[in-house]
Amino acid sequence: MNILEIIEKKRDKEELSKEEIEFFVKGYTNNTIADYQAAALLMAIYLNGMTKKETTDLTIAMANSGERLDLSNLNEIIVDKHSTGGVGDKVSLILLPLVASLGIPVAKMSGRGLGFTGGTVDKLESIPGYKTEVDILQFIKNVEKIGISMISQTLNLAPADKKIYSLRDSISCVENISLIASSIMSKKIASGAQKIVLDVTCGSGAFMKSKEKAEQLANEMIEIGKLANKETVCILTNMDEPLGYAVGNSLEVIEAIHFLQGDMPEDVKEVVLELGAYMIKLAGKGNDIEENKAKMLENIKNRKGYEKLIQMVENQGGDSSYIKDTNQFPKAEYIGNVYSNTSGCIQSMDAKEIGKIVCELGAGRVRKEDKIDNAVGIVLKKKVSDKVEDEEILATIYANSKEKMEKAKERLLKVIKIKEEKVEKPKMILEVME
Ligand code: URA
Repeated sequence: MNILEIIEKKRDKEELSKEEIEFFVKGYTNNTIADYQAAALLMAIYLNGMTKKETTDLTIAMANSGERLDLSNLNEIIVDKHSTGGVGDKVSLILLPLVASLGIPVAKMSGRGLGFTGGTVDKLESIPGYKTEVDILQFIKNVEKIGISMISQTLNLAPADKKIYSLRDSISCVENISLIASSIMSKKIASGAQKIVLDVTCGSGAFMKSKEKAEQLANEMIEIGKLANKETVCILTNMDEPLGYAVGNSLEVIEAIHFLQGDMPEDVKEVVLELGAYMIKLAGKGNDIEENKAKMLENIKNRKGYEKLIQMVENQGGDSSYIKDTNQFPKAEYIGNVYSNTSGCIQSMDAKEIGKIVCELGAGRVRKEDKIDNAVGIVLKKKVSDKVEDEEILATIYANSKEKMEKAKERLLKVIKIKEEKVEKPKMILEVME
């Protein structure tokens, strides 16, 4: 078998065998297949698609590319959560400490930013000292000790996904159902959780632009979950405008901290409560979704969720004084406002465009080895359906170059559409698929 034949086959729209898929995954993981060859195959997959069987084979091969974590020592049902990606998506930073504060153990491996979307690991690393690269024994010990650990994918767990994920990002090969389903489910299978709640985002700031596509992705992941004996619930959520107000690494961490202190933007609140209610249900700690939401709100009020975040940060080497006083986070050098040039009602703000603007400011990667700038980003002052007066502030931009600031201002103003007609607040929870 050789990689050129495999690339040729996919290029010519043929179905790959299980052995060919395993050959590619093994070879790319142990560096006998070069980046450019893997890139060619991924692009052929992107353009020509994969059958359900190929997608399942790819998922299992990636899950088997390293160790599989055994969480059975924890003696509890472990429920994992993952998002298919979005703009301003700080849900994990809020939801997981909150769920852990209810006594439900959380063992979470997250990813880095991909394309125009942010990643939880990048956000966590904007907390000085926070270690995301933790070995597996320590990871389990952390969960045993304080009930939560959030880390990056380590080299030993689904290492194929780590390489393929960042290669896809650098060759514009992300928005493909088979590649996303296999990437997410391989990590979830390898990471040892028994049950999975997936936030399948849908809209301009998500990889799935339509509800139909999001449903298709959800179905594929639910089916893979069944084959792997892991109950999977998919919650389809709206991602047409950024989630919450902040977009950018440390800016989102700050918004997440404020949320856990009780300052909850409505759209973030809806998504956090829905996902959390299903996590609690799958963990066997409450069948009533509305009651589960009430339990979470109680732990916002009594600050147990916030205390759990502090505990997790300290336990992973982070400096919790930044959580207690968010003014300590380093500020971008240039901070400037974008003003409305008309009055009316916000009709839309394309989340993907906003994600791209924030990437250009330096918060995301263009090449996989790029360093990111944690301080830059955008904080919106208005959301879709809000009223705006002429010359009112629409958003604040945080930049580390004057030129980038000016470009971002110009682009952002074009993205925020204002007209006289009133529009409704967007519905956040589109569907729950079990
Ligand atoms: N999240 C992942 O983990 N993988 C993808 O491919 C997309 C989003």
